[in-house]
Amino acid sequence: MTKPIAVDGPAGAGKSTIAKNVAKKIDYIYVDTGAMYRAIALYLIRQGVDTNDEEKVSAAIKDIEVSLDYKDHEQIVLLNGENVNAFIRTPEVSKTTSLISKYGDVRTKLLDLQRNMAAKKNVIMDGRDIGTAVLPDAFLKVFLTASSEARAMRRYKELTEKGEDVNFDDIKRDVEARDYQDSHREIAPLKQAEDAVLVDSSDMGIEEVTDAICTLYQERIKA
Ligand code: DC
Repeated sequence: MTKPIAVDGPAGAGKSTIAKNVAKKIDYIYVDTGAMYRAIALYLIRQGVDTNDEEKVSAAIKDIEVSLDYKDHEQIVLLNGENVNAFIRTPEVSKTTSLISKYGDVRTKLLDLQRNMAAKKNVIMDGRDIGTAVLPDAFLKVFLTASSEARAMRRYKELTEKGEDVNFDDIKRDVEARDYQDSHREIAPLKQAEDAVLVDSSDMGIEEVTDAICTLYQERIKA
């Protein structure tokens, strides 16, 4: 039996950085489920599908295949066999992903893939519904959050360090709009599972959060 770890939380709480660090420390495989949703959104944008039309989205995604591969511990998202890692982090893809991830057919398409991965290997999987819907029996569930202010500030720093000319208020508004959309959809909304441990990273550094989750894991192992 595998011992999967579920990490859920809003955009920008640091889930991916922290889950990646924890994976290295405890020799787990890190699975970024958001990247799978992003690959589907990219496909729909490329095909010019009207993403507000659920039926059109359902029809368009029937024949696509999303899968994951790993190279030097990096997750590679394959969309019909093409490595799309370089194309799925744009603001346009982020926005479209949040929109299309509310559709039942989109979620169903990825659910089995995610469950199969967790059944075969020890994974730390990050997303929005991992502890509530994908892996309700996960060995450890963490709900990682931070204030929208702190999350927007991290994103702002990241982008300005890259030399991008961005506005803090715009970023904060985008973060809050995504939170709202992800938490208010009907199917598998973003929400803390009852048995998840809440970690608020607003005033914590990456190392501190990583260590806190590793400690929770070690405690469970010993219990
Ligand atoms: O984690 P991320 O920012 O890459 O996720 C992108 C979007 O995908 C997010 O706005 C909501 C959606 N998502 C989801 O609905 N369920 C998941 N398990 C992961 C992501």
